[in-house]
Amino acid sequence: MAIVLTEEQIQLRDLVRDFMAGEVKPYISEFDEKGEFPLEIYRKSFELGFHCLDIPEGNGGIGLDNKTMCVILEEIGKVEPAMAITMLCTSLAMKCVLVGKNQEQIQRVADILMPGGFGAFCLTEPDSGSDAASLRTSVVKDGDDYVLNGSKCFSTNGGYADVYIVFATLDRKLGAKGICAFIVEKGTPGLSVGKHENKMGLRLSNTCDVIFQDVRVPAKNLLGKEGEGFKIAMEGLDEGRAYNGSIAVGICQGAVDACVRYAKERRTFGVPIIQHQAVGMMLADMEIYTEAARQLAYNAMSMADEGKKITKEAAICKCFCADAAMKVTTDAVQIMGGYGYSKEYPVEKLMRDAKIFQIFEGTNQIQRLVILKEMAR
Ligand code: CAA
Repeated sequence: MAIVLTEEQIQLRDLVRDFMAGEVKPYISEFDEKGEFPLEIYRKSFELGFHCLDIPEGNGGIGLDNKTMCVILEEIGKVEPAMAITMLCTSLAMKCVLVGKNQEQIQRVADILMPGGFGAFCLTEPDSGSDAASLRTSVVKDGDDYVLNGSKCFSTNGGYADVYIVFATLDRKLGAKGICAFIVEKGTPGLSVGKHENKMGLRLSNTCDVIFQDVRVPAKNLLGKEGEGFKIAMEGLDEGRAYNGSIAVGICQGAVDACVRYAKERRTFGVPIIQHQAVGMMLADMEIYTEAARQLAYNAMSMADEGKKITKEAAICKCFCADAAMKVTTDAVQIMGGYGYSKEYPVEKLMRDAKIFQIFEGTNQIQRLVILKEMAR
Protein backbone atom coordinates (compact mmCIF):
# COMPACT_ATOMS: atom_id res chain seq x y z
CA MET A 1 0.00 0.00 0.00
CA ALA A 2 1.42 3.39 -0.97
CA ILE A 3 1.32 5.65 2.05
CA VAL A 4 0.72 9.07 0.57
CA LEU A 5 -0.06 11.83 3.03
CA THR A 6 -2.41 14.67 2.14
CA GLU A 7 -1.27 18.27 2.43
CA GLU A 8 -3.38 18.55 5.61
CA GLN A 9 -1.79 15.44 7.14
CA ILE A 10 1.70 16.77 6.38
CA GLN A 11 0.89 20.09 8.06
CA LEU A 12 -0.49 18.30 11.11
CA ARG A 13 2.54 16.00 11.26
CA ASP A 14 4.89 19.00 11.12
CA LEU A 15 2.95 20.77 13.85
CA VAL A 16 3.27 17.70 16.09
CA ARG A 17 6.95 17.32 15.14
CA ASP A 18 7.72 20.93 16.15
CA PHE A 19 5.81 20.59 19.41
CA MET A 20 7.61 17.38 20.31
CA ALA A 21 11.02 18.88 19.49
CA GLY A 22 10.46 22.18 21.29
CA GLU A 23 8.13 21.45 24.18
CA VAL A 24 8.68 17.79 25.03
CA LYS A 25 12.12 16.51 24.04
CA PRO A 26 14.12 18.87 26.30
CA TYR A 27 12.29 17.61 29.42
CA ILE A 28 12.10 13.88 28.72
CA SER A 29 15.20 12.69 30.57
CA GLU A 30 14.25 14.62 33.72
CA PHE A 31 10.74 13.11 33.85
CA ASP A 32 12.01 9.68 32.80
CA GLU A 33 14.52 9.74 35.64
CA LYS A 34 11.84 10.70 38.18
CA GLY A 35 9.13 8.49 36.64
CA GLU A 36 6.79 11.44 36.84
CA PHE A 37 3.68 12.31 34.82
CA PRO A 38 4.37 15.66 33.09
CA LEU A 39 0.87 17.07 33.51
CA GLU A 40 1.83 20.58 32.40
CA ILE A 41 3.27 19.26 29.13
CA TYR A 42 0.10 17.26 28.51
CA ARG A 43 -1.97 20.38 29.20
CA LYS A 44 0.13 22.37 26.72
CA SER A 45 -0.42 19.71 24.06
CA PHE A 46 -4.18 19.86 24.74
CA GLU A 47 -4.11 23.64 24.22
CA LEU A 48 -2.59 23.04 20.80
CA GLY A 49 -5.43 20.64 20.08
CA PHE A 50 -3.65 17.27 20.41
CA HIS A 51 -6.45 15.75 22.42
CA CYS A 52 -9.59 13.71 21.79
CA LEU A 53 -9.03 14.10 18.07
CA ASP A 54 -11.20 11.12 17.23
CA ILE A 55 -14.36 12.33 18.98
CA PRO A 56 -17.00 12.60 16.22
CA GLU A 57 -17.91 15.98 14.77
CA GLY A 58 -21.55 15.38 15.71
CA ASN A 59 -20.46 15.36 19.36
CA GLY A 60 -18.39 18.53 19.15
CA GLY A 61 -15.05 16.87 18.28
CA ILE A 62 -13.13 17.01 15.04
CA GLY A 63 -13.67 13.34 14.16
CA LEU A 64 -10.17 12.76 12.86
CA ASP A 65 -9.94 9.62 10.72
CA ASN A 66 -7.86 6.68 11.90
CA LYS A 67 -5.24 7.06 9.18
CA THR A 68 -4.47 10.61 10.30
CA MET A 69 -4.36 9.34 13.91
CA CYS A 70 -1.64 6.96 12.68
CA VAL A 71 0.40 9.91 11.44
CA ILE A 72 0.09 11.74 14.75
CA LEU A 73 0.68 8.74 17.00
CA GLU A 74 3.80 7.76 15.03
CA GLU A 75 5.16 11.28 15.26
CA ILE A 76 4.60 11.48 19.02
CA GLY A 77 5.84 7.90 19.48
CA LYS A 78 9.14 8.74 17.76
CA VAL A 79 10.02 11.11 20.58
CA GLU A 80 7.92 10.12 23.63
CA PRO A 81 5.86 6.93 23.31
CA ALA A 82 4.37 7.43 26.78
CA MET A 83 2.67 10.58 25.60
CA ALA A 84 1.10 8.70 22.71
CA ILE A 85 -0.07 5.92 25.04
CA THR A 86 -1.64 8.46 27.36
CA MET A 87 -3.55 9.85 24.38
CA LEU A 88 -4.45 6.34 23.18
CA CYS A 89 -5.96 5.31 26.51
CA THR A 90 -8.26 8.33 26.57
CA SER A 91 -9.29 7.31 23.03
CA LEU A 92 -9.79 3.71 24.16
CA ALA A 93 -12.18 4.84 26.91
CA MET A 94 -14.06 7.02 24.42
CA LYS A 95 -14.13 4.22 21.87
CA CYS A 96 -15.91 1.90 24.33
CA VAL A 97 -18.58 4.57 24.82
CA LEU A 98 -18.91 4.95 21.05
CA VAL A 99 -19.31 1.18 20.71
CA GLY A 100 -22.23 1.41 23.17
CA LYS A 101 -23.99 3.66 20.60
CA ASN A 102 -25.97 5.63 23.20
CA GLN A 103 -25.94 9.30 22.14
CA GLU A 104 -26.60 10.66 25.64
CA GLN A 105 -23.61 8.71 27.01
CA ILE A 106 -21.38 9.63 24.08
CA GLN A 107 -22.12 13.34 24.51
CA ARG A 108 -21.74 13.20 28.30
CA VAL A 109 -18.31 11.54 28.10
CA ALA A 110 -17.18 13.70 25.16
CA ASP A 111 -18.08 16.81 27.19
CA ILE A 112 -15.92 15.60 30.07
CA LEU A 113 -12.94 14.57 27.94
CA MET A 114 -12.76 17.31 25.35
CA PRO A 115 -11.87 20.24 27.65
CA GLY A 116 -8.74 18.33 28.77
CA GLY A 117 -9.96 15.23 30.58
CA PHE A 118 -8.19 11.88 30.70
CA GLY A 119 -9.85 8.52 30.19
CA ALA A 120 -8.89 5.11 31.63
CA PHE A 121 -9.79 1.58 30.58
CA CYS A 122 -10.17 -0.67 33.62
CA LEU A 123 -10.18 -4.31 32.52
CA THR A 124 -7.04 -5.94 33.91
CA GLU A 125 -7.00 -7.24 37.49
CA PRO A 126 -4.26 -8.79 39.62
CA ASP A 127 -5.62 -12.29 38.82
CA SER A 128 -6.91 -11.73 35.29
CA GLY A 129 -4.77 -10.23 32.56
CA SER A 130 -4.68 -12.38 29.44
CA ASP A 131 -7.79 -14.30 30.52
CA ALA A 132 -9.84 -11.13 30.68
CA ALA A 133 -13.21 -12.90 30.90
CA SER A 134 -12.26 -14.36 34.29
CA LEU A 135 -12.27 -10.94 35.98
CA ARG A 136 -13.57 -10.72 39.56
CA THR A 137 -14.77 -7.14 40.00
CA SER A 138 -18.42 -7.64 40.82
CA VAL A 139 -21.52 -5.70 39.99
CA VAL A 140 -24.90 -6.01 41.68
CA LYS A 141 -28.10 -4.34 40.55
CA ASP A 142 -29.68 -2.37 43.41
CA GLY A 143 -32.90 -0.58 42.49
CA ASP A 144 -32.06 1.83 39.66
CA ASP A 145 -28.34 1.66 40.43
CA TYR A 146 -25.45 -0.72 40.00
CA VAL A 147 -22.91 -1.27 42.79
CA LEU A 148 -19.33 -2.16 41.88
CA ASN A 149 -16.71 -3.84 44.06
CA GLY A 150 -13.18 -4.90 43.13
CA SER A 151 -9.69 -3.80 42.12
CA LYS A 152 -8.12 -3.10 38.78
CA CYS A 153 -4.41 -2.86 38.04
CA PHE A 154 -2.02 -1.58 35.35
CA SER A 155 -4.55 1.04 34.42
CA THR A 156 -3.02 3.72 32.19
CA ASN A 157 -4.10 7.24 33.26
CA GLY A 158 -5.66 5.60 36.35
CA GLY A 159 -4.39 8.34 38.68
CA TYR A 160 -5.52 11.23 36.48
CA ALA A 161 -8.66 9.98 34.77
CA ASP A 162 -11.86 11.96 34.69
CA VAL A 163 -13.73 9.00 33.19
CA TYR A 164 -13.10 5.32 33.91
CA ILE A 165 -14.56 2.58 31.74
CA VAL A 166 -14.92 -0.30 34.16
CA PHE A 167 -15.65 -3.94 33.43
CA ALA A 168 -17.39 -6.00 36.10
CA THR A 169 -19.19 -9.32 36.31
CA LEU A 170 -22.78 -10.02 37.34
CA ASP A 171 -21.88 -13.67 37.88
CA ARG A 172 -18.48 -15.25 37.21
CA LYS A 173 -20.19 -18.51 36.23
CA LEU A 174 -21.50 -16.74 33.11
CA GLY A 175 -17.93 -16.07 31.87
CA ALA A 176 -17.70 -13.42 29.13
CA LYS A 177 -21.52 -13.24 28.96
CA GLY A 178 -21.74 -12.00 32.57
CA ILE A 179 -19.53 -8.96 32.03
CA CYS A 180 -20.94 -5.42 31.97
CA ALA A 181 -19.21 -2.15 31.11
CA PHE A 182 -19.79 1.07 33.06
CA ILE A 183 -18.90 4.72 32.91
CA VAL A 184 -17.55 5.74 36.31
CA GLU A 185 -16.80 9.40 36.74
CA LYS A 186 -13.96 10.77 38.85
CA GLY A 187 -15.13 11.71 42.31
CA THR A 188 -17.76 8.95 42.53
CA PRO A 189 -17.81 7.86 46.22
CA GLY A 190 -15.91 4.59 46.77
CA LEU A 191 -13.61 5.08 43.76
CA SER A 192 -9.97 5.44 44.77
CA VAL A 193 -6.52 5.22 43.25
CA GLY A 194 -4.06 2.67 44.63
CA LYS A 195 -0.41 1.83 44.01
CA HIS A 196 1.42 3.61 41.19
CA GLU A 197 3.68 1.36 39.13
CA ASN A 198 7.40 2.18 39.02
CA LYS A 199 7.99 1.01 35.46
CA MET A 200 10.96 0.01 33.30
CA GLY A 201 9.73 2.15 30.40
CA LEU A 202 6.93 4.53 29.45
CA ARG A 203 7.84 6.36 32.64
CA LEU A 204 6.07 9.53 31.52
CA SER A 205 2.73 7.72 31.53
CA ASN A 206 0.68 7.04 34.63
CA THR A 207 -0.08 3.41 35.49
CA CYS A 208 -1.81 2.42 38.67
CA ASP A 209 -4.33 0.37 40.60
CA VAL A 210 -7.90 1.62 40.74
CA ILE A 211 -10.13 0.44 43.57
CA PHE A 212 -13.92 0.25 43.64
CA GLN A 213 -15.51 -0.07 47.03
CA ASP A 214 -19.31 -0.03 46.94
CA VAL A 215 -19.17 2.33 43.99
CA ARG A 216 -22.74 3.19 43.08
CA VAL A 217 -23.50 4.27 39.53
CA PRO A 218 -26.89 4.97 37.95
CA ALA A 219 -28.31 2.59 35.34
CA LYS A 220 -27.72 5.29 32.69
CA ASN A 221 -23.96 4.56 33.11
CA LEU A 222 -24.25 1.00 31.80
CA LEU A 223 -22.74 0.75 28.30
CA GLY A 224 -24.85 -1.35 25.96
CA LYS A 225 -26.89 -3.99 27.74
CA GLU A 226 -26.07 -6.24 30.68
CA GLY A 227 -23.66 -8.94 29.50
CA GLU A 228 -22.36 -6.93 26.54
CA GLY A 229 -19.33 -5.57 28.39
CA PHE A 230 -16.83 -8.13 27.14
CA LYS A 231 -17.67 -7.48 23.49
CA ILE A 232 -17.43 -3.73 24.12
CA ALA A 233 -13.95 -4.24 25.63
CA MET A 234 -12.84 -6.40 22.69
CA GLU A 235 -14.17 -3.96 20.07
CA GLY A 236 -12.46 -1.09 21.86
CA LEU A 237 -9.25 -3.08 21.96
CA ASP A 238 -9.42 -3.80 18.23
CA GLU A 239 -8.89 -0.13 17.55
CA GLY A 240 -6.58 0.33 20.51
CA ARG A 241 -4.28 -2.41 19.25
CA ALA A 242 -3.98 -0.79 15.84
CA TYR A 243 -3.20 2.58 17.50
CA ASN A 244 -0.70 0.74 19.63
CA GLY A 245 0.99 -0.52 16.45
CA SER A 246 1.34 3.04 15.13
CA ILE A 247 3.09 4.13 18.29
CA ALA A 248 5.46 1.17 17.99
CA VAL A 249 6.22 2.30 14.41
CA GLY A 250 7.15 5.67 15.89
CA ILE A 251 9.54 3.94 18.30
CA CYS A 252 11.14 2.11 15.34
CA GLN A 253 11.52 5.32 13.36
CA GLY A 254 12.94 7.21 16.33
CA ALA A 255 15.58 4.50 16.79
CA VAL A 256 16.40 4.31 13.06
CA ASP A 257 16.83 8.10 12.83
CA ALA A 258 19.12 8.26 15.86
CA CYS A 259 21.13 5.27 14.72
CA VAL A 260 21.64 6.38 11.11
CA ARG A 261 22.73 9.82 12.33
CA TYR A 262 25.24 8.18 14.63
CA ALA A 263 26.48 5.66 12.05
CA LYS A 264 27.26 8.42 9.57
CA GLU A 265 29.33 10.35 12.11
CA ARG A 266 31.02 7.62 14.12
CA ARG A 267 34.24 6.43 12.50
CA THR A 268 36.12 3.19 13.07
CA PHE A 269 38.92 1.67 11.03
CA GLY A 270 39.15 4.92 9.06
CA VAL A 271 35.55 5.13 7.82
CA PRO A 272 32.07 6.04 9.15
CA ILE A 273 30.60 2.85 10.62
CA ILE A 274 27.66 2.98 8.18
CA GLN A 275 30.17 1.85 5.56
CA HIS A 276 30.95 -1.36 7.43
CA GLN A 277 28.81 -4.05 5.88
CA ALA A 278 28.00 -5.69 9.23
CA VAL A 279 26.52 -2.40 10.49
CA GLY A 280 24.91 -1.55 7.15
CA MET A 281 23.06 -4.86 7.00
CA MET A 282 21.65 -4.29 10.48
CA LEU A 283 20.53 -0.78 9.53
CA ALA A 284 18.85 -2.10 6.38
CA ASP A 285 17.02 -4.71 8.45
CA MET A 286 15.88 -2.01 10.86
CA GLU A 287 14.47 -0.06 7.92
CA ILE A 288 12.72 -3.17 6.54
CA TYR A 289 11.02 -3.88 9.88
CA THR A 290 10.01 -0.24 10.31
CA GLU A 291 8.48 0.05 6.86
CA ALA A 292 6.70 -3.32 7.12
CA ALA A 293 5.31 -2.33 10.53
CA ARG A 294 4.10 1.00 9.14
CA GLN A 295 2.32 -0.77 6.28
CA LEU A 296 0.47 -3.03 8.73
CA ALA A 297 -0.58 -0.07 10.88
CA TYR A 298 -1.89 1.89 7.89
CA ASN A 299 -3.61 -1.23 6.57
CA ALA A 300 -5.54 -1.81 9.82
CA MET A 301 -6.36 1.88 10.19
CA SER A 302 -7.49 2.28 6.58
CA MET A 303 -9.79 -0.71 7.00
CA ALA A 304 -11.22 0.83 10.19
CA ASP A 305 -11.84 4.06 8.26
CA GLU A 306 -13.82 2.01 5.74
CA GLY A 307 -15.96 0.72 8.60
CA LYS A 308 -14.60 -2.83 8.35
CA LYS A 309 -14.02 -5.13 11.32
CA ILE A 310 -10.29 -5.18 12.06
CA THR A 311 -9.96 -7.83 14.78
CA LYS A 312 -7.41 -9.89 12.83
CA GLU A 313 -5.63 -6.99 11.14
CA ALA A 314 -5.28 -5.08 14.43
CA ALA A 315 -3.86 -8.17 16.15
CA ILE A 316 -1.39 -8.75 13.29
CA CYS A 317 -0.44 -5.08 13.38
CA LYS A 318 0.01 -4.93 17.16
CA CYS A 319 2.02 -8.14 17.24
CA PHE A 320 4.37 -7.33 14.37
CA CYS A 321 4.86 -3.65 15.23
CA ALA A 322 5.67 -4.48 18.87
CA ASP A 323 8.18 -7.17 17.87
CA ALA A 324 9.65 -4.79 15.30
CA ALA A 325 10.04 -2.06 17.93
CA MET A 326 11.85 -4.47 20.26
CA LYS A 327 14.18 -5.72 17.51
CA VAL A 328 14.89 -2.32 15.99
CA THR A 329 15.65 -0.63 19.31
CA THR A 330 17.82 -3.55 20.48
CA ASP A 331 19.80 -3.39 17.24
CA ALA A 332 20.10 0.38 17.54
CA VAL A 333 21.64 -0.01 20.98
CA GLN A 334 23.99 -2.68 19.59
CA ILE A 335 25.16 -0.52 16.67
CA MET A 336 25.73 2.48 18.95
CA GLY A 337 27.61 0.30 21.45
CA GLY A 338 28.46 1.93 24.77
CA TYR A 339 26.87 5.20 23.63
CA GLY A 340 23.68 3.36 22.75
CA TYR A 341 23.60 1.91 26.27
CA SER A 342 24.14 5.34 27.77
CA LYS A 343 21.35 7.72 28.73
CA GLU A 344 23.15 10.40 26.70
CA TYR A 345 21.47 9.03 23.58
CA PRO A 346 17.76 8.29 23.12
CA VAL A 347 17.91 4.65 22.04
CA GLU A 348 18.30 2.99 25.46
CA LYS A 349 15.07 4.67 26.54
CA LEU A 350 13.29 3.68 23.34
CA MET A 351 14.40 0.09 23.99
CA ARG A 352 12.96 0.23 27.51
CA ASP A 353 9.77 1.81 26.16
CA ALA A 354 9.44 -0.81 23.39
CA LYS A 355 9.26 -3.85 25.70
CA ILE A 356 5.78 -3.17 27.06
CA PHE A 357 4.34 -3.10 23.55
CA GLN A 358 4.81 -6.89 23.46
CA ILE A 359 2.85 -7.12 26.71
CA PHE A 360 0.02 -4.62 27.11
CA GLU A 361 -3.32 -4.43 25.31
CA GLY A 362 -3.03 -8.20 25.01
CA THR A 363 0.37 -9.92 24.97
CA ASN A 364 1.79 -10.87 21.60
CA GLN A 365 0.96 -14.49 22.46
CA ILE A 366 -2.70 -13.46 22.93
CA GLN A 367 -2.59 -11.61 19.60
CA ARG A 368 -1.56 -14.86 17.93
CA LEU A 369 -4.52 -16.54 19.60
CA VAL A 370 -6.83 -13.83 18.27
CA ILE A 371 -5.37 -14.21 14.76
CA LEU A 372 -5.81 -17.98 14.91
CA LYS A 373 -9.43 -17.68 16.12
CA GLU A 374 -10.20 -15.39 13.20
CA MET A 375 -8.48 -17.77 10.76
CA ALA A 376 -10.50 -20.69 12.10
CA ARG A 377 -13.85 -18.87 11.68
N1 CAA B 1 -15.13 -7.93 18.72
C1 CAA B 1 -16.41 -8.28 19.09
N2 CAA B 1 -16.69 -9.39 19.82
C2 CAA B 1 -15.64 -10.15 20.22
C3 CAA B 1 -14.30 -9.84 19.89
C4 CAA B 1 -14.06 -8.70 19.10
N3 CAA B 1 -12.83 -8.33 18.75
N4 CAA B 1 -13.50 -10.78 20.43
C5 CAA B 1 -14.29 -11.65 21.07
N5 CAA B 1 -15.58 -11.27 20.95
C6 CAA B 1 -16.76 -11.95 21.47
C7 CAA B 1 -16.84 -13.36 20.91
O1 CAA B 1 -17.48 -13.41 19.66
C8 CAA B 1 -17.62 -14.10 22.00
O2 CAA B 1 -18.99 -13.84 21.85
P1 CAA B 1 -20.05 -15.03 21.48
O3 CAA B 1 -19.89 -16.06 22.58
O4 CAA B 1 -21.37 -14.34 21.49
O5 CAA B 1 -19.61 -15.52 20.14
C9 CAA B 1 -17.18 -13.39 23.28
O6 CAA B 1 -16.66 -12.11 22.88
C10 CAA B 1 -16.10 -14.17 24.00
O7 CAA B 1 -15.01 -14.31 23.11
P2 CAA B 1 -13.95 -15.49 23.26
O8 CAA B 1 -14.65 -16.80 23.42
O9 CAA B 1 -12.98 -15.35 22.15
O10 CAA B 1 -13.30 -15.11 24.68
P3 CAA B 1 -12.08 -15.76 25.46
O11 CAA B 1 -12.41 -15.79 26.90
O12 CAA B 1 -11.61 -16.99 24.80
O13 CAA B 1 -10.95 -14.61 25.37
C11 CAA B 1 -9.14 -13.33 24.47
C12 CAA B 1 -10.47 -14.07 24.25
C13 CAA B 1 -8.79 -12.86 23.07
C14 CAA B 1 -8.03 -14.17 25.04
C15 CAA B 1 -9.41 -12.09 25.39
O14 CAA B 1 -9.60 -12.48 26.72
C16 CAA B 1 -8.28 -11.08 25.33
O15 CAA B 1 -8.21 -10.26 24.40
N6 CAA B 1 -7.37 -11.08 26.36
C17 CAA B 1 -6.38 -10.04 26.48
C18 CAA B 1 -6.95 -8.89 27.26
C19 CAA B 1 -6.25 -7.60 27.01
O16 CAA B 1 -5.95 -7.24 25.88
N7 CAA B 1 -6.01 -6.85 28.07
C20 CAA B 1 -5.36 -5.59 27.97
C21 CAA B 1 -6.12 -4.56 28.74
S1 CAA B 1 -5.66 -2.90 28.42
C22 CAA B 1 -4.14 -2.66 29.12
O17 CAA B 1 -3.24 -3.35 28.83
C23 CAA B 1 -3.97 -1.55 30.11
C24 CAA B 1 -3.94 -0.22 29.55
O18 CAA B 1 -4.31 0.71 30.24
C25 CAA B 1 -3.44 0.03 28.19
